[in-house]
Amino acid sequence: MIRKCLFPVAGYGTRFLPATKAMPKEILPIVNKPLVQYGVEEASEAGVHEFGFVTGRGKRALEDHFDISFELEHQIAGSGKEDLLTSIRDLIDNNSFAFTRQNEMKGLGHAILTGQNLMGDSPFAVILADDFCVPEKGHDGVLAQMTALYNQFRCSIVAIEEVPADQTHKYGVIAGEPMKDGLYRITDMVEKPNPEDAPTNLAIIGRYILTPDIFEILSRTEPGKGGEIQITDALLEQAKNGCVLAYQFKGRRFDCGSIDGFVEATNYVYENIYKEGKS
Ligand code: G1P
Repeated sequence: MIRKCLFPVAGYGTRFLPATKAMPKEILPIVNKPLVQYGVEEASEAGVHEFGFVTGRGKRALEDHFDISFELEHQIAGSGKEDLLTSIRDLIDNNSFAFTRQNEMKGLGHAILTGQNLMGDSPFAVILADDFCVPEKGHDGVLAQMTALYNQFRCSIVAIEEVPADQTHKYGVIAGEPMKDGLYRITDMVEKPNPEDAPTNLAIIGRYILTPDIFEILSRTEPGKGGEIQITDALLEQAKNGCVLAYQFKGRRFDCGSIDGFVEATNYVYENIYKEGKS
């Protein structure tokens, strides 16, 4: 069973300046809830109870968000607004949250390696909060879809979706042998290839399940694309020596690392989640 989930959240969020000057981008709200809380809720629904965050300077608000604010609860007690804190209070009461700092920005692979002391030697999930995911109607959340596959196959799994061919330079791209509906056994992976070098248009999105041997591989993975230590490169080694699966999840992803995607996600949540919850 997957019980732990790592959130690499050290990035500066420069695309959202000046909003992110004094506030972590993961705390920016989609309607009335910070972006990162949606990711934590998705993992919690998948049975995860231990959360690790790889943070950096200026990310204190993340620790405060996943901690009880007695002053605030005292202030709003009896005001009729208590319900607004229920979702976060439930998460705090039922899960544990731990934080460590990435003191050099050396890429996603390095961030995940920094989380080793929080994840230990069990298989774990990784969520990139920027990729906000909603499941197709009638399906579990995206991470729950992936943990079900992990329970069956017991190997690392990445979530993928088709992207337009001219967008491959933004993603890790896989090639694989189809196994069954939307599931591939990975044969190749390339980090952010130009369209002419991309093996397919199947792009990795920010949901991973990793087996703990990934840490040893990451510890000796040389810097790759952009001079950074890439999780994609470490996973390719795992794929070559064993098995890594790619799963075309049932759902929709919003790229909340971009302003356009963030606004689309906001509109979607307002219309389909927030308003529905009110009525
Ligand atoms: C990272 C990964 C990339 C993946 C992407 C998903 O890139 O390196 O392989 O496709 O997340 O969002 P980043 O967006 O951090 O540059």
